[in-house]
Amino acid sequence: MSLPVFSGEGKYSDRWLNIWKDGLPPGQGFDGSRAAPSLVKALESGELSVKGKRVLVPGCGRGYDVVLMAGHGASPALGLELSEDAVKAAEDYRDKSAGPEAKANAKYTQGDFFSWSDSAGPLDVAYDYTFLCALQPKDRKAWAQRYKTLIKPGGQLATLMFPVDASRDKDEGPPFPVTPELYTELLTPEGFTRTYFRKVEPEESHEGRQGKEYFAIWSRNTGD
Ligand SMILES: C[S@@+](CC[C@H](N)C(=O)[O-])C[C@H]1O[C@@H](n2cnc3c(N)ncnc32)[C@H](O)[C@@H]1O
Repeated sequence: MSLPVFSGEGKYSDRWLNIWKDGLPPGQGFDGSRAAPSLVKALESGELSVKGKRVLVPGCGRGYDVVLMAGHGASPALGLELSEDAVKAAEDYRDKSAGPEAKANAKYTQGDFFSWSDSAGPLDVAYDYTFLCALQPKDRKAWAQRYKTLIKPGGQLATLMFPVDASRDKDEGPPFPVTPELYTELLTPEGFTRTYFRKVEPEESHEGRQGKEYFAIWSRNTGD
């Protein structure tokens, strides 16, 4: 994930819109060109179960992981994107690549994570990959608060943490570097408990991300 390091003037969110408007090709910049191998493993091993669950993927990009979870029975797997052009790219990828179950269950909607809500109510599961690192550090507390609102008590948040890279300047991004401790600091006060955690093996990462990823599952406490 080399693109984009933003600089200069302009609204931060406009930069995402422009990347998609310019037509981000598969495999370029942050686009991994396929589902995250560690998510494939989590679903196949049963670490994470999405069958029959309503799943949200904020900042889903072209939606590779949305299609994957839809194929594992998420109903729906809902990708949320700020960019209408990203939604179109994701629908195009789904329509050309997904099998029948995934095609039926993978849905996309345009909206801002910080203000969007689902008319059907809180969701069972959310999945966050290359989304926290895409946000400006000042928005991290709001990120955690949004998950508290969007996920139902007893529901789960799966986080594929990236980039965990001590050599990077913490204020330079996106992608802004993260740490497992940062997720704990953000999510614990919002009523999440980490129930699963592992370092991602190098062969389970997209090219260039090896050694910089951790996978965790958080349970939204019922009492909060
Ligand atoms: C680094 S990209 C990651 C895309 C995708 N998760 C992937 O793995 O390919 C971050 C995505 O989040 C979207 N995004 C940024 N801010 C957002 C917001 N406030 N609400 C919804 N989507 C947003 C951007 O348009 C972009 O596609």
